[in-house]
Amino acid sequence: MKTALKTAFPENFVWGAATSAYQIEGAWDADGKGPSIWDAFTHEPGRIFEDQNADVACDHYHRWREDVALMRELGLGAYRFSLSWSRILPSGAGVANEKGMAFYDALIDALLEAGVTPWVTLYHWDLPLALQRKGGFLNRDIVEWFGDYAALVAGRFGDRVGHWMTFNEPPVIIGFGHQRGQNAPGLRLAFADCLLGAHHLLLAHGRGVQALRAGARIPARISIAHTSRERIPMEETLEHVEAARRDYFSCRQRNFWDLAWWADPVVFGRYPEEGLKAFAADLPPITDADMALISQPVDFLAYNCYSGWPVRAGAGGAPEDVPGAWGPGNPRGTRPWLSIVPEAPYWAARFQTERYKLPLVFTENGFNNIDFVHHDGGVHDPQRMDCASGYLRSIRRAINEGHPVQGYFHWSLLDNFEWSDGFSERFGLVHVDYRTQKRTPKDSFAWYAGVIRTNGASL
Ligand code: NOJ
Repeated sequence: MKTALKTAFPENFVWGAATSAYQIEGAWDADGKGPSIWDAFTHEPGRIFEDQNADVACDHYHRWREDVALMRELGLGAYRFSLSWSRILPSGAGVANEKGMAFYDALIDALLEAGVTPWVTLYHWDLPLALQRKGGFLNRDIVEWFGDYAALVAGRFGDRVGHWMTFNEPPVIIGFGHQRGQNAPGLRLAFADCLLGAHHLLLAHGRGVQALRAGARIPARISIAHTSRERIPMEETLEHVEAARRDYFSCRQRNFWDLAWWADPVVFGRYPEEGLKAFAADLPPITDADMALISQPVDFLAYNCYSGWPVRAGAGGAPEDVPGAWGPGNPRGTRPWLSIVPEAPYWAARFQTERYKLPLVFTENGFNNIDFVHHDGGVHDPQRMDCASGYLRSIRRAINEGHPVQGYFHWSLLDNFEWSDGFSERFGLVHVDYRTQKRTPKDSFAWYAGVIRTNGASL
């Protein structure tokens, strides 16, 4: 019994892979689709690596049948993808674009037919441009715009889709898009305006949850996909663990990476005291009715986990960063932000499930590399397998210790458009040749198929 627990994952563990609309679909102006802020942003010179854009990307809009066939071959249990709001509602609100709706209808049907459960994200960063022109997240009307959009998609797909995420990675939407300007809409706003946008985003989430529940015709499990910076105790002793935990849920950074600022309102219905104090001079008005809307019950924690940052207990147990702790030349992907830290999902799962008392699903984890087709025709990516294997073992540790982790989605199914880094790095289990659109499953594809087939026992 003990051995079984050590080698296998729970029976109903969800094995998935993830993508997002703008990063793979292409067909940016096909069949009545309206422009999104990412279409506008990538078309501005100087914004993206080599001025690339995702006008075509993986051309998934036209090649989705082939991509679903790959998922079937992989043995995928679930596929997380996002809807393009401006494909469905070209100007963000009003009359739906039937061709856009029909695309997602067909995709969902094909997934179900292939035995793959659809997990749908409503917003993965591509706001309809028309709504940005009306102020985007700074306009409180976003709450109703998003609520109406959620009602529309629940009405259409809620008979077949039961797993929903409202927003993907709020810290990136506000921090990178509105504060630092490196992502669409490319703004560099004052902190107070960013806090206002963040508050509106959370309100829109709450309104979206209400609309999804109201429209669901099969049991609905709803969440919001968060991310943060994993704190890793420098050593596994009580004092370092407590320092890491304290730091993880601290709330003082004026850059939106503090998880508690986002997750406490959703789960507890209140902003963290520490943040309220630290940000007092910049806060928008916040009412009890706002907090009631934001804290609509969610069914699980959805979490994107990539790297980790070490923390130790300093004087009096106070958390301290340990700069350079991973050492020079430490294992990492193509960007310095992605140091390979296999303990990261263990600590994320433990700290979050203990605090929020909800099960957790890793809605993203993956590794960026410069993969290419080798002379033998294969794409050999041992680093990706090694990285994912370490992270999955650490997830298994969390489960074995009783922290409820219910699923893992690998980022990504396909190589795709990595935002401001364009096509300069690859995250896929499947290699995409962007000149020919040829898909070549990488070695990691076969490896992950084995993991899925054995329910993790092969790890
Ligand atoms: C998180 C984002 O959700 C996804 O869009 C991105 O491509 C991956 N991280 C990798 O950076």
